[in-house]
Amino acid sequence: MLDFMPVAHYASLGAVLGVATALSLLVVLLEPRLGLLAKLHGFPDTLKTSLPTRLSTLVDDAVNRLGFPARARGPSALADPDPLANLALRSATTRDHLYVNKCLRWPYFQTMAHQAMHVNHWIEIDARYEAEMQYKASVVQRYRDETVISLPENDEGAGELLETLVDYLPKRYPTLFAPLPNGGIHNKVLGERHYDLKGMTGTDALVVVSKLVQDDFLMGREREDGHVYFVGGIVAVPGFYSFKDKVGKSMREVHEPVPQFNDKILMSVERTLKRFKPEEPFERSSWEIVDDLKAHKHNIATLEGDDKLADDLPPSEYIFRIDHQTFRKLPKSRAVVFGVHPILRPLHEFADLPLVPALLATVHKRGPSDLMQYKLNFRYQDKLLPYLKELTQSQIDRGLITGDEDVAEFRALLGKVKA
Ligand code: HEM
Repeated sequence: MLDFMPVAHYASLGAVLGVATALSLLVVLLEPRLGLLAKLHGFPDTLKTSLPTRLSTLVDDAVNRLGFPARARGPSALADPDPLANLALRSATTRDHLYVNKCLRWPYFQTMAHQAMHVNHWIEIDARYEAEMQYKASVVQRYRDETVISLPENDEGAGELLETLVDYLPKRYPTLFAPLPNGGIHNKVLGERHYDLKGMTGTDALVVVSKLVQDDFLMGREREDGHVYFVGGIVAVPGFYSFKDKVGKSMREVHEPVPQFNDKILMSVERTLKRFKPEEPFERSSWEIVDDLKAHKHNIATLEGDDKLADDLPPSEYIFRIDHQTFRKLPKSRAVVFGVHPILRPLHEFADLPLVPALLATVHKRGPSDLMQYKLNFRYQDKLLPYLKELTQSQIDRGLITGDEDVAEFRALLGKVKA
């Protein structure tokens, strides 16, 4: 993961850790004297322990500010997430993944397009939580054997994923979740209490996972042949592909339908998945245009041949689906956990985002044809392009853009208010 952590960051981290080590040594040397002083002078007992504790908090804070994980306090190898202490679900949002990740970009090539992830961003809950959890529950109930699968080699990892989530959620979202005895969790939003989760593994654990967060989880593992295999998960909203048909396959086989993947990025992907450490999570995202909210399998993915989207659906109602993808390695089982949270937004929401319609048009008109075909552009492009042109012209008319900008720079215009 060194390749996506700036060198300056490492230098700063080195400095912080150097000072911290020196101070820790000092505390270890002084500790017996502090205890004695406390006894002799009737200082509170906390004096002896509070110094090292405060020091370690100081180090954690400094390391956190640099964007690095501090020490683990739960089952995870990462720092605890920061609590969103006053979060009200109805106004909760994810980060804006059009902007925070590199999924929407120009020029458009097949790349890994990943970046280091802060622990706070592993699970992002938003106002659609209840509706999407209801939908997910109905999908899992209806297609249980196709959505919850764990090969024996994945069972321990599934248990560790549940344990990690149960530790994380009440810490990050104390208004939505609370811990229960014996490793349980209270989902306050859905009014569900899950007891006695300690030691639960395999599909039992994955079913509970499906009741906690909007994210799907695909799970991978390195086998003795040195390749990473897709060995299970809870995948209710893949949108396009069949989870059941992919389980048990290698990364090469899994990504066979993805243009340029095996030739261009398979080796880097496998190397990254094998080498990254539990304290080096990363994220990326991908996008598609779809025609409904049925994220288990979108209607567009069921059409055949040259079929196009129905005429009665205006392009303003096409849905831009961004999958926020998170990657963690679990420290005990070494399972690779690939979380996917689909975020679905109708295209008309892009009307006031400077240059975004122009960028999307450029990607569709000039992007590599194999990548665009994989996104099924031929089913909607003839209706999409005139609509994007209309939105772009309106942005010029309202002074949001001049029309001469480089579309690759759309992120720089984010702050521009609508006219
Ligand atoms: C456990 C690890 C992984 C699993 C189980 C997995 C699984 C999948 C599956 C099932 C698909 C859909 C394929 C289809 O359309 O038939 C897919 C697509 C894709 N995967 Fe992976 N993948 C993994 C890791 C990665 C990593 C680490 C990257 C790059 C950093 C990556 C990049 C892609 C890309 C580029 C696509 C095409 C859709 C998109 O643009 O995201 N995958 N993956």
